[in-house]
Amino acid sequence: ANKLSVGAIRKAKGGTPLMMITAYDALFARLFDPIADILLVGDSLNMSFAGKPDTLSATLEQMIYHTKAVCSGAPDTFVICDMPFGTYTTAERALDNAIAVYQQSGADAVKIEGGRDKADIIAHLTANGIAVCGHIGLLPQAVRGEGGYKVKGKDEANALSLIEDAKAVEAAGAFCMVVEGVKADVATRIAEAVSVPVIGIGAGSGVDGQVLVFSDMLGLYEPFVPKFVKQYMQGAEAVKTAVTQYKEEVAARTFPAEEHTY
Ligand code: KIV
Ligand code: NA
Repeated sequence: ANKLSVGAIRKAKGGTPLMMITAYDALFARLFDPIADILLVGDSLNMSFAGKPDTLSATLEQMIYHTKAVCSGAPDTFVICDMPFGTYTTAERALDNAIAVYQQSGADAVKIEGGRDKADIIAHLTANGIAVCGHIGLLPQAVRGEGGYKVKGKDEANALSLIEDAKAVEAAGAFCMVVEGVKADVATRIAEAVSVPVIGIGAGSGVDGQVLVFSDMLGLYEPFVPKFVKQYMQGAEAVKTAVTQYKEEVAARTFPAEEHTY
């Protein structure tokens, strides 16, 4: 009922920073629905939920499945679906795949990684009625090509290049953009250079909003904890303690107790 519109998200620029969090299923989406401004069905689910080493093997079918579940769980929150690797290599391909996301998942918008190099694709989508969130800076879908995750904005030439990317993404019609893994001062300059909200992750506090991967911020994902992640909860410890207690009580026959028994 109180779902933000694309227009409301645009107008949030300069106001209270937006809170975006990932969600991959209805279970968590239902918990986040009354709290989050925007939910992102990130292809990071390929790592945490599908157990793969990076995001590149995520498929459109997978993203649609998870986005459907998130939209079911969070009817009152704006939902963005990541376009996975290889699904937006041309403008025509991107539009066909974004239409499939709209028709099959209930997403409010899609997200595409890339700057000037993807401006034509973003423009084709927005011209055809697709709401597009950009994503510049560190691009996880480029990890194999670049041979690792590299923080951006470390020199002035790169800073200027990122600002040009942001302007191109805005000019192509994106209603907001994620800026990932960028030196904080550069991310602030990016936010000042465009009139749409810049949502940061590993980009400091001088931007228009923040996004975190929910399984990272709840401390549920143990393989790797990046510097930019704040663990608001020790989720993995809490889960393991509970499941261990369950196992012990099963062995001791103290579970089920009288009140759990018909
Ligand atoms: O896939 C994802 O979760 C993302 C965020 C890190 C922005 O793209
Ligand atoms: Na992503």
